[in-house]
Amino acid sequence: MAVRNNILPVNLVFKFILLASLITENIDLAGAWLGVNFGEDGDNLPSRTDVVKKLTDIGMKQVRIYHTYAETMSAFANSGIDLIIGISNDDFMTVLADVNSSLNWLNTNVVPYPNTNVVTITVGNEVFASDSELLIAALLPSMENLYSALQQLALDDITVTTAHAFDVMGVSYPPSAGAFKSEYLSTMTGIAEFLSRTGSFVFVNFYPYFTYEADKTNVQLSYALLGSGYLVDSGNGKVYINLLAQAVDAVYTALTAVGYGDLVVRVSEIGWPSGGGDDATVANAQTHNQNLVALVEEGTPLKPDNKVDAFLFAMFNENLKAAGVEQNWGLYYPNLTEVYHIDF
Ligand SMILES: *[C@@H]1O[C@H](CO)[C@@H](O)[C@H](O)[C@H]1NC(C)=O
Ligand SMILES: *[C@@H]1O[C@H](CO)[C@@H](O)[C@H](O)[C@H]1NC(C)=O
Repeated sequence: MAVRNNILPVNLVFKFILLASLITENIDLAGAWLGVNFGEDGDNLPSRTDVVKKLTDIGMKQVRIYHTYAETMSAFANSGIDLIIGISNDDFMTVLADVNSSLNWLNTNVVPYPNTNVVTITVGNEVFASDSELLIAALLPSMENLYSALQQLALDDITVTTAHAFDVMGVSYPPSAGAFKSEYLSTMTGIAEFLSRTGSFVFVNFYPYFTYEADKTNVQLSYALLGSGYLVDSGNGKVYINLLAQAVDAVYTALTAVGYGDLVVRVSEIGWPSGGGDDATVANAQTHNQNLVALVEEGTPLKPDNKVDAFLFAMFNENLKAAGVEQNWGLYYPNLTEVYHIDF
């Protein structure tokens, strides 16, 4: 990934940010939100009832989970939380192999929880990054099967999508040159057509942390932390002041190139680790995530009216993930103590 930015003198940046905040005050903020990912790869996590109580206490209205464990599905009942549930890469090829098996899956994992407000189902997570041609080929047919099964069960207010890794992008800098990897182009186009036809949206995981670590020479820390920066994209005439807007507009440009620029892009995962690696500090994680809270109320230069809905990664530090940064993305320790404070 080649993400670069040019930094102008501080006084110019400051003027621009002042101007941007004046403009923001006139934007209708209704509908903007920040959700959180509740990953369950830990053997020391709180009871799911306690998790939902904490999510409610901090005002979370949108939560994404990766599985459909019975205890978790039950705990979200009557919570007022919109829930995005997932079918894992290990499972979806089998359970969504045809419409009948998709009906079975829904009858086992969704139908028994009528008071749990499932709004979206993600088929797989970072499927293209799996490098499995079989899995990639099965993705769109699986989404179609699940969609048909939802229609048959009259669960047609539940949308179907998949969460992409950002490396579906072949070009992401500058945003005006955004393009999907050529080897994924036809599948991505098919998925975009499906999402458009079924009233769904594009979901993409984006990690400013990894972008920064991969190219510290060209990416400024403050820009990656979504604080300040200044990039003029001569290709589209837009000005970017943070890495998230730049990444999302690259995806919009790639979608426009395949004919689906009207799809809404949402960020399925974004965060910053608080330990376990270079620049993975509590201070950086707190700064990044607090800046993110403000950003989701804004659109991007290409789509000023589309608020950047995003899911923060993640609710808890998860001790069954790989050692290092992977275990340190949480807002909370498993004992429900804050790793750092965020005002939502
Ligand atoms: C799907 O299930 C129904 C009801 O059990 C059955 O009648 C039908 O033959 C099945 N269709 C396929 C394609 O297996
Ligand atoms: C919660 O866990 C963290 C990390 O292990 C620890 O530092 C903190 O003291 C614990 N808090 C309580 C109240 O036990």
